[in-house]
Amino acid sequence: MSVSSSQRPSALEHQARIYLRGGAGLTPPVPVDPLSLEEKAQKYMSPAAAAYIIGGAGRERTIAFNRQDFDRWQIVPRMLRDVGTRDTSSSFLGQTIASPLMLAPIGVLEMVHKKADLAVAAAATATGTPMVISNQASFPMESIARVLGETPRMFQLYWSKSNELVKSLVKRAEDIGSQAIVLTLDTTMLGWRNRDLEEAYLPFLRGQGIAQYTSDPVFRKLAESFQPDVSVSKPPVTPATIAMLLKQADNVPGSFLKNLTSGKALRLVRAFIHYFVRPSLNWENLAFLQDCTSLPIILKGILHPEDAKLAVQYGVQGIIVSNHGGRQVDGAMSAIEALPKVVSAVEGKIPVWMDSGIRTGADMFKAIALGAQAVCLGRPYVYGLTLAGKKGVQSVIQHLQAEFELTMGLSGCKNIAEIRQSSLEERVSWRN
Ligand code: FNR
Repeated sequence: MSVSSSQRPSALEHQARIYLRGGAGLTPPVPVDPLSLEEKAQKYMSPAAAAYIIGGAGRERTIAFNRQDFDRWQIVPRMLRDVGTRDTSSSFLGQTIASPLMLAPIGVLEMVHKKADLAVAAAATATGTPMVISNQASFPMESIARVLGETPRMFQLYWSKSNELVKSLVKRAEDIGSQAIVLTLDTTMLGWRNRDLEEAYLPFLRGQGIAQYTSDPVFRKLAESFQPDVSVSKPPVTPATIAMLLKQADNVPGSFLKNLTSGKALRLVRAFIHYFVRPSLNWENLAFLQDCTSLPIILKGILHPEDAKLAVQYGVQGIIVSNHGGRQVDGAMSAIEALPKVVSAVEGKIPVWMDSGIRTGADMFKAIALGAQAVCLGRPYVYGLTLAGKKGVQSVIQHLQAEFELTMGLSGCKNIAEIRQSSLEERVSWRN
């Protein structure tokens, strides 16, 4: 499943194509500037989708830090270094990929596009970009894997209250050729998300983003015997309640009428809410996952260097430095700030990847110079999906890859190894 860099147009070809098409009055399918991309996508989203996708925890300070803290670092380009040939290829779990870019797991994409993860997988395939399939995807992982063909993929796991369900999901991930299990650690409960709370909208309650569960034989059994907690106070029955029940019946697999009249849809959703996450998860639990699978385990959501050391000690194969795009702890440290400390803590023993705040090719360059092996792209590809489906995601990826290659070359680096050797300078005014 190795993907060579020849599979994508070079930065200069991509750039030239855009300018040439300009002669025919055509502009790129989605805005190139990341802020314009977000602003335009928001116009095409429902208020609930905009809150869920663009929003984050609390006052969204961490979302702001994720962006601002890239400005701490300056690239100091070197000259006259023969960058006539540029190689952005990078290693990924022992394989070669076209550029050090992957797609972060993002749930509930059906909120912005009917084809959701399938369109994203098609764009990943077209560009040779590894995809992390979300535990909260809108389609079962098997359907997404079919679209991915030979493209590298990993499955992202939320550790359920049921170990049997964890086992089943991991087995399915192995069967679809997942190259690792990405275990997300920072979401053992949902963060306090002001915008979602103001909309009073949680997609899962409507049966959205639970396809990995409703397609799982172990989960379906658990749901059949699930007894909801009757002590939980019920909301008043209003026309919106009926609309929600209809939506649930429509969103879960099976006949709409049967789902509604038999109470199956409601049962599946309630069981999902119960089994979704496990707040008591701890380091000792990792042994269970390691016993379940021989796949590499990558821990997503590490920020503290001591946790990075523990990850090495507990024998996992990689780390993703991430604060979940500022969706969990408002005021948490930015990922780019945490990155060099984590890199230094692991002492090269396992690879470190990074997400949260990556918007441009220059951001990618900085993350790699600070020690990331690769970065994961998050919200921007969802904006591409919102505006133009597969084509939109593909354009967003290509813009990023092209800017990355140009930044690399114009900074005097021919390849990823040279980026790692190039040091960034801290802005003098940073802490003043
Ligand atoms: C996420 N993220 C996420 N992470 C994960 O492990 N599983 C998931 O299902 C989701 N779902 C999800 C939905 C939405 C709408 C967003 C915005 C994010 C987090 C994601 O993988 C990644 O860490 C962040 O998106 C990175 O932040 P930026 O760069 O997108 O701001």
